[in-house]
Amino acid sequence: MSKLHIVGIGPGSKEYLTLEAINTIKSSDIIIGSERALKLFDKVKTKKIYLDASNVKEIVEYGIKKVKDGFKVSILSTGDPGFSGLLKTVQSMAKNIDIEVTPGISSIQLCAARLQIPWDTVDLITMHGKGISTELLSIINNGRPTIILPNLKIEETIRHLLDKGVDPGKKVAVCERLGYDNERLIKNSIGNLLNENFSYMCVMVVY
Ligand SMILES: C[S@@+](CC[C@H](N)C(=O)[O-])C[C@H]1O[C@@H](n2cnc3c(N)ncnc32)[C@H](O)[C@@H]1O
Repeated sequence: MSKLHIVGIGPGSKEYLTLEAINTIKSSDIIIGSERALKLFDKVKTKKIYLDASNVKEIVEYGIKKVKDGFKVSILSTGDPGFSGLLKTVQSMAKNIDIEVTPGISSIQLCAARLQIPWDTVDLITMHGKGISTELLSIINNGRPTIILPNLKIEETIRHLLDKGVDPGKKVAVCERLGYDNERLIKNSIGNLLNENFSYMCVMVVY
């Protein structure tokens, strides 16, 4: 019986793809993903369907229909599908078909590895697609590092924390474009990051 595969493809470079993800994707009839995700498979000749923030529902519905028609479909999710990834969205829509999830290396894991933080000692918070969390201020002052997946613009998070009275000398790290050739790891005090420009691909740690 055909399945809908939700495949974690890691933080975005080929080095962090798992063999399981590659095999699942190569054996699919249709692969669905963002431009960034599908670029990793530009040499794979399988039919590709592009998905972006504006058409997620429509494209996932298309994928579900194709599974019902008997095709093997993979939906690519950057990082791990279960952390601010496509798992929740697909689960809420795909009720009467089999789903299989292939885990991927999350940007959170790569951030923790780069900064050599055992991530069972941190608090994790995602604000992606949700806006600034009201819990954030209490979490960052609890004595444990906080790893934050920001809501697109990290500048907004930095500004928010400073506006709410966080000490400008508080240590933070920003991991940008993890796994890519132009990766940046910035360790500084939060006040010094106010005028930095960052891409949307960042994970932030507040110590
Ligand atoms: C839709 S969320 C997906 C998170 C993903 N499921 C994961 O486990 O990493 C996209 C956000 O993840 C972070 N992200 C994804 N890839 C990244 C990378 N290579 N470097 C830094 N941050 C990344 C950025 O904050 C980006 O806006």
